[in-house]
Amino acid sequence: MMNAIAFLGNSTMRPSKCLLRAFTRLSPSRDTAFQSHHSRCINQNINNQDPYRITKLRNVVQFCTNRPSSVTTQVASEARNLSASRTCTKDPTLDKIIAKNGLNVKPLTVERLEEDEKDEEVVNGDVRNIDKDGLENVRRKEIEEEAWRLLRQSVVTYCDSPVGTMAANDPTDTAPLNYDQVFVRDFVPSALAFLMKGEGEIVRNFLLYTLQLQSWEKTVDCYSPGQGLMPASFKVRTSPLEEDKFEEVLDPDFGLWWIILLRAYGKITGDYSLQERVDVQTGIKMIANLCLADGFDMFPTLLVTDGSCMIDRRMGIHGHPLEIQALFYSALRSSREMITINDSSKNLVRTINNRLSAISFHIRENYWVDKGKINEIYRYKTEEYSTDATNKFNIYPDQVSPWLMDWIPESHRCGFLVGNLQPAHMDFRFFTLGNLWSIISSLGTPRQNQAILNLIEEKWDDLIGHMPLKICFPALESSEWHIITGSDPKNTPWSYHNGGSWPTLLWQFTLACMKMGRPELAEKAVTLAEKRLQADRWPEYYDTRYGKFIGKKSRLYQTWTIAGFLTAKQLLQNPEMASSLFWEEDLELLETCVCVLTKSGRKSCSRAAAKSQILI
Ligand code: GLC
Repeated sequence: MMNAIAFLGNSTMRPSKCLLRAFTRLSPSRDTAFQSHHSRCINQNINNQDPYRITKLRNVVQFCTNRPSSVTTQVASEARNLSASRTCTKDPTLDKIIAKNGLNVKPLTVERLEEDEKDEEVVNGDVRNIDKDGLENVRRKEIEEEAWRLLRQSVVTYCDSPVGTMAANDPTDTAPLNYDQVFVRDFVPSALAFLMKGEGEIVRNFLLYTLQLQSWEKTVDCYSPGQGLMPASFKVRTSPLEEDKFEEVLDPDFGLWWIILLRAYGKITGDYSLQERVDVQTGIKMIANLCLADGFDMFPTLLVTDGSCMIDRRMGIHGHPLEIQALFYSALRSSREMITINDSSKNLVRTINNRLSAISFHIRENYWVDKGKINEIYRYKTEEYSTDATNKFNIYPDQVSPWLMDWIPESHRCGFLVGNLQPAHMDFRFFTLGNLWSIISSLGTPRQNQAILNLIEEKWDDLIGHMPLKICFPALESSEWHIITGSDPKNTPWSYHNGGSWPTLLWQFTLACMKMGRPELAEKAVTLAEKRLQADRWPEYYDTRYGKFIGKKSRLYQTWTIAGFLTAKQLLQNPEMASSLFWEEDLELLETCVCVLTKSGRKSCSRAAAKSQILI
């Protein structure tokens, strides 16, 4: 994984104090002249320092755990509920936590390891029988219980409060790289699993603490990105570090997931007071303003660099990748529901509405392919310099690769949204997450959404195979792999991001299936995963064309694999909760569209035009 921001800060030693102190914000908010808060862990006893003396030159917040640790970053949000001083006292249960080579590793208990062996015996004993007859309920229960135990063991605490889950928690891994960090996108399935179990505290804490990280003073090569950008991950550190040193790479999908999770928290817990808080409202607006700011772009979609999403390494997805557009659309729909409307917010809400309708028209019309559309592209005229061009993006027909012509089903009931689109460039690869989120958020039309699921069903072996689900299809091979990935040894054909299979996608697939009234498809995929995940020790991803092997460099005990599995199961058991997490088609939204380009030129939008659009 590449796009993580590692915060490196001063060390703290046990016993430590975590103090959250108010001080003036560096860049005043447009909304309120509120104050930001500062948190730090101070070793009062050992250093004999004044606990209230701010030792750093810059505004910083340190994440500290009940382990000797800290994360440093600047704070720029109001955090009323966090403003009280708190003390991290030594918790006897912490003795279970091993700080090995400066890494936080919570061991699996001996009891668990014994159970693992027992499970493996059973599995090795007769894997075929289990497969054929399906897993017995007792086994299912055991697997689920282990998943819960592992998920709880991955929880990271800050001042005795749970604040997130680390990306992977393999006790035998001596080089976890940055997988011991709390990744925002990885935490989403953990959050949903906890929420659906009625445990909202960890999610609330996560939302508030990450909010504090939103506008810290960050620079890359002397450049400070826009206010509102949030980091991709944070880490609780254990080892002493040099003063004020940190290293960062920015990842724009962070704020989008944060907003989506905030909405989910309200929907599932019924606690809407969190999203109504001034600091939280400001956080939403800052992200929205950042994403909606004018740039040099011609399209309503969000322009991002390669590796800006779940695929966080070079994979040729710079530009307007579908995944980011689907998350952007979902985050804007969430914001629109959550922003308190008043004089200062009504313009922003209007801008959000306009952008939402523009994005959906743009994606529905230009990203959609089925056999008919591919044939149309294959016969495109090029260099049509006029407003009524059919080939608006000047796509050269030779881009339609032979694999696609073979692969696309005959039936017009199957289709999908392509991975990326910009002038003279259409990336025809199937990217699973973007397609699933388009279904979940109603970015696609109802017919398109059904057709995506039809395609997955029709292409089950390619997209699900031995382990749900392929991150993208097909893999880049030979010179394409060489040039596009930069010869990335982790992204070799049919491995990792390059056509690997990621069990975490199971929960999003389940949600999409439930939305479209097809839970049986999800059940089939969950059953398939259930047969292997525990025996394989919950891998991050699987390799080969049909997902047969545990990934070459795959982490084990990967938290979002565990949480994704649990969330998928809980969604299937709680259709009502599932329905609170997706979005239905919104005709009013479509109606707000100002105009849409059609073959016959510009056509003004009306409810009738909106309705006809949804029938595509
Ligand atoms: C990998 C994934 C990324 C994930 C990270 C942590 O790099 O590509 O999406 O957030 O691992 O699990």
